[in-house]
Amino acid sequence: MSILAEIKKPVEREMVEFEVYFNRNMKSNIPLLKIILNYILRRKGKQMRPLLVLLTAGLNGKITESAYVAATLIELLHTASLVHDDVVDEAEERRGALSINALWNSKIAVLVGDYMLSKGLLISVENSRYDMLEIVSEAVKSMAEGELLQLQKARKLNIKEDDYYKIIISKTAALIAACTATGARSVTEDPDTIQLMKDFGENIGIAFQIRDDILDYEANGLTGKIIGNDIKERKITLPLIHSLELASASRRREIMSIVKKKKKTKDEIDAAIRFVNTSGGLEYAEIRMNGFRDKALAILDTYPDSEYKNSLKKFVSFTTSRNI
Ligand code: IPE
Ligand code: IPE
Ligand code: MG
Ligand code: MG
Repeated sequence: MSILAEIKKPVEREMVEFEVYFNRNMKSNIPLLKIILNYILRRKGKQMRPLLVLLTAGLNGKITESAYVAATLIELLHTASLVHDDVVDEAEERRGALSINALWNSKIAVLVGDYMLSKGLLISVENSRYDMLEIVSEAVKSMAEGELLQLQKARKLNIKEDDYYKIIISKTAALIAACTATGARSVTEDPDTIQLMKDFGENIGIAFQIRDDILDYEANGLTGKIIGNDIKERKITLPLIHSLELASASRRREIMSIVKKKKKTKDEIDAAIRFVNTSGGLEYAEIRMNGFRDKALAILDTYPDSEYKNSLKKFVSFTTSRNI
């Protein structure tokens, strides 16, 4: 059994229920939209966010209908954000297939992303869950800020490690924190519990994005994305930030001159990837990532043993060891 299937065990039935909800909301009568929504539905992602919502709900109480609402709305927003992100990053592959912008075009991808985003927000309105709407809208706002901050840094190429954390907390950890916050909110109104679970999710989210950024330098053929896309897009992530810090001034200049180029050859991208792979940047990123993983695990350890806690432990470890 795959590790994800094992993690899913305590919420297997709820995950099926979630998928029914999700598929029902990925519908439209507009022919082009119908085709594209079906294309997206045929290539499911790992569904880690809905899984996290449900497991966190289970950790804190009895899973109810409102947890499906939160899981569905978050997966819709996540999917919308990927469609938009591939436009911003000019990425051609996603989930092992062509991205929407590559297969259709950017105009269409922007509109399809908008459609899914608004469908997601509407789900909480239809179910009168304004508390969920508030948590998730905050996260969406934060994601846009994070992506914009990243673009600004990519233009100026002046990113420091602290800026990097600021970016990934906004663009990725905020939504993952919304998973754990809404999961908790679906079973309790206690603000301390919701805040604790939000912190738990934020630490998972930071670790999740550091792993994603490491994977952008490691060819494994399993992520369904093309490696080196970050360098190509002048995205300076933790492995590169640290490799540059350790390098001699001349080596740093050499690599930065590649990163700066608007159009890079495959050889140049390969040289930059090799530099990061041989300069200690990946090892350093891994150490920092594990620090956030351990913070998440420490929060989890304040809970009594349960099947949910056990699965969440595995979930956290999977976040930092995954190759997909
Ligand atoms: C990708 O998220 C976007 C990031 C925040 C790095 P996932 O890796 O969870 O994407 P899917 O849904 O499984 O494709
Ligand atoms: C995360 O950053 C994107 C979002 C939060 C939408 P990346 O740009 O690194 O994500 P991937 O690698 O394209 O999935
Ligand atoms: Mg991207
Ligand atoms: Mg990435």
